[in-house]
Amino acid sequence: EEESRNLRHGESLYNMVGRLGGDSSLSANGKKYAEALYEFIENREMIDGEKEFDRKQNDSTWSLNSKVEALRVFTSTLKRTLETAEKFEEDPEKYEISHIKFLNEIYAGAFEDMTYEEIKLKHPDEYLARQEQKLQYRYPGAGGESYLDVIERLRPVIIELERMRVDALVVTHQVVMRTLLAYFTGIPLCDVPKVKVPLHTLYCLQPKPYGADLHRYAYDP
Ligand code: F6P
Repeated sequence: EEESRNLRHGESLYNMVGRLGGDSSLSANGKKYAEALYEFIENREMIDGEKEFDRKQNDSTWSLNSKVEALRVFTSTLKRTLETAEKFEEDPEKYEISHIKFLNEIYAGAFEDMTYEEIKLKHPDEYLARQEQKLQYRYPGAGGESYLDVIERLRPVIIELERMRVDALVVTHQVVMRTLLAYFTGIPLCDVPKVKVPLHTLYCLQPKPYGADLHRYAYDP
């Protein structure tokens, strides 16, 4: 079965200062991660897996698709994902890249570019409303989205991923990652906003008749 490898973009300048959304570039750390990611996908050795996953890199179930021959690469249309996947652009024969707006991060409407502290201070009611109903809460202002909105727009992407006959690499954002992981590993809808998806971590999903095998690789420079 085909594998899908999913990750958040490398650390962005906004991640460093805790600002939501926006379209900032990668930080110096984020750029290092992007390079290590490319080497890892090419050679499977530059990123140290977490201890328990280390051994699995060499076991037989895992080495099924170990050498990458061709990969469909998907990014969002935001700079931090384009920059994370930049290296893959150099080999279009091997890596076919598509930039998909549906993979963009949740749009925080009027609260884009703010920090959680600013929202809490200036809009305490909104802050509280989101705490209480994170899944349903829709950000105010034009284009503001809720988790449910993002989950809805991801439907066609998930159908495409399931239908594909080659491996895919998906470079995306926190809310989208939570949704994809939840969908492929059977986490219930109500828990989607709570799924932990740290930066600089690659998730490899191998679909099985029921559910999927999941391997997690954390970048440890
Ligand atoms: O902080 C990074 C980020 O991707 C923001 O752009 C986005 O609003 C947020 O994470 C989503 O996480 P949460 O739903 O937990 O606020």
